[in-house]
Amino acid sequence: ALISLRQLLDHAAEHSYGLPAFNVNNMEQIQAIMQAAAACDSPVILQASAGARKYAGEPYLRKLVEATIEQYPDIPVCLHQDHGTSPAVCQQSMRSGFSSVMMDGSLGTDGKTPSSYDYNVEVTRKVVEMAHAIGVSVEGELGCLGSLETGEAGEEDGIGAAGKLDHAQMLTDPEEAADFVAKTGVDALAIAIGTSHGAYKFTRPPTGEILAIDRIKAIHARIPNTHLVMHGSSSVPQEWLAIIRQYGGAIKETYGVPVEEIVEGIRHGVRKVNIDTDIRLAMTGAMRQAMAEKPDEFDPRHFFKAAVAAARDICRQRFEAFGSAGRA
Ligand code: G3H
Ligand code: 13P
Ligand code: NA
Ligand code: ZN
Repeated sequence: ALISLRQLLDHAAEHSYGLPAFNVNNMEQIQAIMQAAAACDSPVILQASAGARKYAGEPYLRKLVEATIEQYPDIPVCLHQDHGTSPAVCQQSMRSGFSSVMMDGSLGTDGKTPSSYDYNVEVTRKVVEMAHAIGVSVEGELGCLGSLETGEAGEEDGIGAAGKLDHAQMLTDPEEAADFVAKTGVDALAIAIGTSHGAYKFTRPPTGEILAIDRIKAIHARIPNTHLVMHGSSSVPQEWLAIIRQYGGAIKETYGVPVEEIVEGIRHGVRKVNIDTDIRLAMTGAMRQAMAEKPDEFDPRHFFKAAVAAARDICRQRFEAFGSAGRA
């Protein structure tokens, strides 16, 4: 059944667990996530970016999610719009049947230029007003994703500020977070703690100076009843990087957010954990390997099956590590 983000995250908070929110673009990714959830009895957050809607087309995304809800009637599913860049974008998603939207007012409508605090409050409050009237949840964002190592915003996959950021912009301020939540009424708040989107997050395994888990604790202490969201939370598994390289891929040395650091965040109010890159890496690695091992195969289903199996394993690991397994 389709349910709102608020319902899922209230349950997660009550029982002290976190939920991965996986980005989806096609049937195989949705099936991988749902198979993993069914196998370990976890609720699900499926999220679609503007890029996903462009890739699949709005009707396909909507019908694919409809199909999966029909196939898995016992799994609670939230369909969430990731990184809406304006109230108009969020409104379109609500019309399309999403049960949750993110109004990312931390950036302007270009999705790149950091915006003013007042602009962020204004657009987010507007979306909350529209969404709550029809039972849809809203995630807001305060602070900019970016690397505390390099000062780069790291908009490698097109979502996020472009160019250089100040250190302070990349760490959400607890006092400002309290004011933002009070003024907007958001159901969940995405915070900046040094993570960024894509595969290239850290040049070395992250320590406290470049991955500010302590900042989560400070924010949670100030607004204990707000559900916190971590973006850019792929762990970038070294095993998958090795397989991609072994079978002809060219991915440079890089490190993600360790699962145990995310689990520490979940102990301090993180309830939604956004993951896209890990599924991309697993699917790409599995397809490269399957193609190399069976050079005479030309039925693409063979490669897609390998990709689904790899993505399913990653999803299951995250459901279990974050504690959502057994909670459907
Ligand atoms: O927010 C970033 C997600 O990884 C979505 O990426 O815009 O390439 O679909 P995308
Ligand atoms: P990753 O690129 O780390 O998977 O983050 C995805 C994300 O935050 C989507 O909003
Ligand atoms: Na989101
Ligand atoms: Zn994000």
